[in-house]
Amino acid sequence: MIPVNPDRFLQDLHSLRAIGASGVGKGVVRPAYSAADIEARDWLAQRMIDAGLTPQFDPMGSLFGLVEGPSLLMGSHSDTQPEGGWLDGALGVIAALEVARAAKESGGPPVSVVSFQDEEGRFGVTTGSAAWSGVLPAEKIGALTDPKGITLPEARAAMGDRLGGWVDPKRFTGFLEMHIEQGPLLDQTGGKIGVVEAIVGIRDRVIRFEGQQNHAGTTPMALRRDAFQALGRFNTLINERFRNVVTPATVWTIGHVSLHPNAHSVVPGKVAFSMQWRDGEAERLRRMEEIIRESAEEVAQAMGMTLAFGPMLGVEPVAMDRAMRSALAEAAEAEVPEQWRQMPSGALHDASNMARLMPAAMLFVPSIGGISHDFAEDTAEADLVSGLNVLARAVARMPASTG
Ligand code: GLV
Ligand code: MN
Ligand code: MN
Repeated sequence: MIPVNPDRFLQDLHSLRAIGASGVGKGVVRPAYSAADIEARDWLAQRMIDAGLTPQFDPMGSLFGLVEGPSLLMGSHSDTQPEGGWLDGALGVIAALEVARAAKESGGPPVSVVSFQDEEGRFGVTTGSAAWSGVLPAEKIGALTDPKGITLPEARAAMGDRLGGWVDPKRFTGFLEMHIEQGPLLDQTGGKIGVVEAIVGIRDRVIRFEGQQNHAGTTPMALRRDAFQALGRFNTLINERFRNVVTPATVWTIGHVSLHPNAHSVVPGKVAFSMQWRDGEAERLRRMEEIIRESAEEVAQAMGMTLAFGPMLGVEPVAMDRAMRSALAEAAEAEVPEQWRQMPSGALHDASNMARLMPAAMLFVPSIGGISHDFAEDTAEADLVSGLNVLARAVARMPASTG
C-alpha cells in the first residue's frame, strides 16, 4: 500500500473548497473558465510542483501534473456546476495528488495527475476530456456556447498564455478516477465503497419552439401560439411515450429553460430548453431520441410553432476495465471487508472518455442523503479517507504498474 497521508489529503481538499466557496454550507461556485476555476487551477499547479510533478495545461485548459516516463494517470475535474458541492470532481483530483505525492516520496509506482476542464458541461458534456479523447471533434469546439451565448473560445481566453499543447495519451498505462457516488445507493445500504462496472451513456441537445409573442390580456386563448404551452405539451407527451421504452434506471431531464420575453403580461413567443437523457444501452438512447424528435414535431405542427434542434451532444455507455476493476475490488475487500459493492454509474465522468484512450476504472464513496449538484453535497470524512486508502492499495496492484 502506498503510504498516503490522510490529514494532508483532507487539508488540501478544504483548501481547494475555499476557492469559490459559496458561503452556503460547504458549497462551491467554480464553473469552467471562471476566475475561481482558474485560481483553483493555478493553486493546483503549485501543489503539483511542490509534489515534484511537472504541471502542463492542454489547449482546453485541463491541467496535468506529470511524472517522467510511463505512468498511471489519476484524477477528475475541479470545475463545478453553477451551484456545486465541494467534492464533485475535487475529491478525485486531490486524492490523485495525494497518491502521486506519496508514491513519489516512497519510491512507489509512477502516478501522474489530471484536473480536466469543463467536466460539468458549461459548454457541452465532459468537454475537456471529450476534446482530448477525440469524442468531441476539434472542428466542433469553436461553435460551443454556454446558456448565455458565450462561446467556448471567448471563455477560454481568460486562461491566457497558460494554455499549452496536447499531452500524449500514450505515456499513460491507465486512468483511475475516484468520485462521490452522487446517488443514494451506498448511503442507503451502508456501503462504504462502490467499484464501478460501467458508466451510462448520455444525449443532450437544445430544442427551440417559436410561436407568436402577444398581449396576455387581449389575445384569446384559441388564437395564441404560446411557446410555454408547447413545452408543456411536449413534456407530457414524452413522459407518456417513454413509458414503453424505459427501465427504472433510465433518466431524462429538462433542466434549463429560457422563455422569451419572460414577463407576466406577455404570451411567450419563444422557448429554448435543454433535453437530456441517460441510459446504459445505446439502443434505448436511440429510441428515446426518436420519441423526442417525433413528439416535438407533432407539437410544433399542432400548435403553430416553428421548431429547431441544437447539435446533439453525447457520450456512449462504457464498461470499466476488467483487470483494473479486479484490483479495486481486492483493495476494497482489504480496506472495508464486505462493505463494498460493484455498481453502475448514472452520473457521467471523465473516465467515460478515458476508456477510449486507455484502460479506465472508477471508485465511489457514499454521498450523504444521495445529494449532489447542490451546495448540500457532502460525504463523511472517514468515508473520504477509506476511499483514499482503497486507491493507495489498488495502485500497487494495478496490472500496468506492476508489469
Ligand atoms: C456530471 O456531473 C453529470 O452530469 O453526470
Ligand atoms: Mn464529477
Ligand atoms: Mn457533476
